[in-house]
Formats: sequence, structure tokens, C-alpha cells
Amino acid sequence: MSIITVATTKGGAGKTTLGRLILALLAMRGFKVAAVDADYNHTLTDWVTTAAKHPITVHHELDETRIVPLVSELHNSHDFVLIDTAGAASQATIFALGCADLVLVPISPSSADIVEGIKTINLIKSASMMLKRDVPARVVLTAVQPGTNIAEHIENEVAKATLPVLKTRLHRLVAFQEMSFTGIAPTSGAAGHQASNFLDDLAALGGLPESMKIAS
Ligand SMILES: Nc1ncnc2c1ncn2[C@@H]1O[C@H](COP(=O)(O)OP(=O)(O)OP(=O)(O)O)[C@@H](O)[C@H]1O
Ligand SMILES: [Mg+2]
Repeated sequence: MSIITVATTKGGAGKTTLGRLILALLAMRGFKVAAVDADYNHTLTDWVTTAAKHPITVHHELDETRIVPLVSELHNSHDFVLIDTAGAASQATIFALGCADLVLVPISPSSADIVEGIKTINLIKSASMMLKRDVPARVVLTAVQPGTNIAEHIENEVAKATLPVLKTRLHRLVAFQEMSFTGIAPTSGAAGHQASNFLDDLAALGGLPESMKIAS
């Protein structure tokens, strides 16, 4: 399995940050990676073309009829494909969910992120029913500020809604923000540790290239 879609109908929840992190970590390890940017803001495309430090193929594609053929083409010629989506439900998002081996739904500390995260998980369940196959999905709790009331509130709400949550939490750390202009994924300190655990979780779910050997 090697197609990951990052999606939530909430804007600014951390989709592109997760996308950059996965792409940078895999490209750094020598994998042939590709990205499809289905967001009209083309943030991921800009990052790949101006900041990424290792080769990444990127396509900005807003035409929903092109998403699946493009991903299929890239999947044949790359080890891994990541699809970043817009912060609102769109037809392109539905197709990006439908062709994923794993969907990641970021939730940052806000109530609106929970509401939209639940909606997105329901959207993925509908897509699974339509396709007659399970589309695995995990909520990623990101920009977490441990020890705060909001962090506890979010954990409680996510548990109450019985959302499937990835084990690793990504904290609100400048190293994740700095990737937007350095292009470099954190490999040391708290961010490096969390990034490595995050990748381990994705590998355990079968969301990474078959030959993936996690260097921890
Ligand atoms: N773990 C994190 N630590 C610190 N900052 C973060 C983290 N995750 C996201 N951010 C910050 O939150 C902001 C929004 O993140 P991002 O652009 O990834 O969201 P998005 O879901 O892609 O937004 P959009 O819907 O507009 O595409 C950015 O400034 C980013 O640097
Ligand atoms: Mg984005």
C-alpha cells in the first residue's frame, strides 16, 4: 500500500504540514515519491518547487476527473504517492479519498476541527460503502499542546466520537512549521522523535512503500 490522502473539510487543520513531513521523510530515505496537490491554493506544489531538498514529483490537479487517472499513473512509476486536498469538501476530495490506501485526517486543537474531522470520517465511510472496500482512515492529533485543558478536551471529544486515532500525537513545535521554508524534516529533538514514531505508525498500517525500513 502506498497511496496516502490527507484530508479534512476543516481549513488550516494541518493537512499540508503532514503531507510535507511524510514526503520529506520518504524522499530523504531515497524513495521515489510523488505528490498530487488537489488544493486550489497550491501550497504543497509551491513547497515542493521552492523548498523541498530531495526530488519529489508534484502535480497540481483540480479537475476531479483527472485525480484517479493521475494517481494511478504516478503509482505505477513511483514508490509512494501522497494526495493533499483542499480545506473544504469538493469532488476532487471524494476521488482522492476513493483511491487512497490510507487516509489521514488531521485535527488541531479546536472544536471546529473535531466537527469537521467527524464529518470527514463519515465521508470516508460513505466512500467505502460506495466502493465496496474498506478505506482505512486515522485521525492525526496535531499541533497538540500537552498538559493544557484544550488538549484534554480534544482527547475526550475524539474518544467520545469513537474516532480511529493514530497512536503518535504531533505537538505544536516550530520544527514542523519551519519545514515550510527549510524543506527539511526534523530528525532530532522532540519533533524528530515524533516524526519517527509517526512514520512507524504509518508503516504498521501498511501505508508506506513495501520496502520501507524505518531508520529510528
Ligand atoms: N504540529 C504542528 N506544529 C506547529 N504548527 C503546526 C503544526 N501543524 C500545523 N501547523 C501550522 O498550522 C498552520 C496550518 O497548517 P497547514 O497549512 O498544514 O493546514 P492545512 O490543513 O493544510 O490548511 P489549508 O486547509 O489552508 O490547506 C500552519 O501555519 C502550520 O505551520
Ligand atoms: Mg493545505
